[in-house]
This record gives sequence, C-alpha cells and structure tokens, in this order.
Amino acid sequence: MIIEKCIVQSIEKVKSNIFLLKVLSPNISTKGKAGQFCNIKVSENDFPLLRRPFSIHYIENESIYFLFDVHGEGTNLLSQKKIGDIVDIIGPLGNGFNINEDFETAVLVAGGIGVAPFPLLTKSMVNKSIITFYGARNSEYIYDKNLLNINYSTDDGSIGLKGNVIDLLKINLKNLDKQKIKIFGCGPSPMLKALQIFANENNIKCELALESVMACGFGICQGCPIETVDNNYKLICKDGPVFDAKEIIL
Ligand SMILES: Cc1cc2nc3c(=O)[nH]c(=O)nc-3n(C[C@H](O)[C@H](O)[C@H](O)COP(=O)(O)OP(=O)(O)OC[C@H]3O[C@@H](n4cnc5c(N)ncnc54)[C@H](O)[C@@H]3O)c2cc1C
Ligand code: FES
Repeated sequence: MIIEKCIVQSIEKVKSNIFLLKVLSPNISTKGKAGQFCNIKVSENDFPLLRRPFSIHYIENESIYFLFDVHGEGTNLLSQKKIGDIVDIIGPLGNGFNINEDFETAVLVAGGIGVAPFPLLTKSMVNKSIITFYGARNSEYIYDKNLLNINYSTDDGSIGLKGNVIDLLKINLKNLDKQKIKIFGCGPSPMLKALQIFANENNIKCELALESVMACGFGICQGCPIETVDNNYKLICKDGPVFDAKEIIL
C-alpha cells in the first residue's frame, strides 16, 4: 500500500455524467492490477473527511486512469480537478481479479459504471479470448474504450438488446462451453446477485467485484463486512473487493 501525491494529467467528461481522470503515479502504477482500487482524497481540506474508493480503470506507463460517475459531493469535487492539481491517493488496495485460473474465455459482465475495472483486466489477459457484456441505462452512459468483443444492452434499447445485461449474457452463453469460461462481474448489487445465481446454478467459475461504503479502505475500521457462506464475514476492502461467487452471500 502506497500513499502518493499524484499530479492530474487530464480530466475529461467522456459521457453524460461520466469523467475520466488521469494522474501521474510513478509508484502505485507499477504495483496496481485489475480489480484493485485506490482511496482518493477528493479535496485539499477536511471536507469531505472520508476518502472515496475507485477502481483502477487503466494503467499506461506511469499514469493511472479512474473512470467515475458524479454521484454526490465527493465525486462532484473530483470532477472539478484541473490539470496540474495534486491529488492524494492511497493504493493499490484490495485483492484484484484472479486471472491465473484454468479457463480459455474470459466473460466480462459490466453494469453501468461497473465497467471501470475492465479495460485493465482486458489488457492483463494476453493469452485468453475475451467477450464483454455491457449493460447501461442508455447509450449516453456507455464508455467502452479499451474493451474487446462488446455486446451491449440498454434499458431503453438505444444500443444493443433492450433489457438487462444478465438476459444478454444468458442468450449469448448458450453457444459457449461453460467448463472453459470464467465470468468476471462488476456493477450494481441486484445485477451481481442475478449474476451470482446464474453462475452458481450453471457451475461456471465466477468472480464478482463488490462495492461498499468504505472509511479506511485497508481493513482497520471493520466498516465493510460481507457475509460468507460459512457463517463468517470478510472485509470488502481487504479480503475483496473481488470474491468468488460461491463464497459470499449477497
Ligand atoms: C472498491 C470500490 C470501487 C469503486 N470503483 C468505482 C469506480 O471505479 N467508479 C465510480 O464511479 N465509482 C466507484 N465506486 C463507488 C464510489 O466510491 C462512490 O460512487 C463514491 O464514493 C460516492 O461518493 P460521493 O461523495 O460522490 O457520493 P455520496 O453519496 O455523497 O457519498 C456519501 C458516502 O457514501 C459512500 N458511497 C456512496 N455510494 C457509494 C458506492 N456506490 N460505493 C461505495 N461507497 C459509496 C461514499 O464513499 C461516502 O462515504 C467504487 C466503490 C468501491 C467500494
Ligand atoms: S473500509 Fe475500513 S475495514 Fe474496510
């Protein structure tokens, strides 16, 4: 875990309400992997007090990218950063996705801003084939740079299937050998729950990247528990945010 003062290299509104932040991070960038996150101090004073967690979206040379939508005060402040500003970042945090398991095809399932960790995951998997399923409210909420083989669904049908991303996944997975795939999911809780049920019922390897309100981000405050199937609990920030779909109760 590294605490680093990073220079903002660019901040861009890439879609309706979605921002892409690029920072120079010579230290965290060399350690970060797909599925890990950083805890970002969004202002220079004590308001808001808590840092905000964001997935590592992409790493290029010594730069890290974060993709975020403006949700409340913290993300609003972050969206107002200017080139040259200094941002205090702790990272990389959490475990990240396990891509060393035995599978041939990675099936990436993203809901909304849950797409954030997938460009780096895509870049990391050089020897696998990749299929991406990306669901969003409408085409204005889709940002798909650095993804591969994308199938879309939108609530209003403005791009791809009119419906949700789990329906899209079910239609398309019929043609694949379920023993040779691994699903990676990230998105809102109802989507992850549906994905967990689908993967477990079909005995497909599956990892889910979870979200939680976080304070410390590295296992001290005990503020981000998730119940496990063995009647125990784990911490989303430290033991996750990525969990095996068979391991947790959503
Ligand atoms: C591991 C992890 C990775 C994440 N990656 C991304 C990402 O790549 N892009 C992105 O847009 N968002 C991501 N989020 C969600 C992001 O952290 C929240 O949207 C953000 O904290 C909201 O802050 P706010 O001040 O704008 O909103 P407010 O609603 O004003 O926040 C109030 C409090 O609730 C917390 N909070 C609110 N919504 C969430 C949420 N969905 N998840 C966690 N905490 C929340 C905030 O941290 C803060 O403590 C991630 C969350 C986690 C836990
Ligand atoms: S956020 Fe503090 S233990 Fe997870």
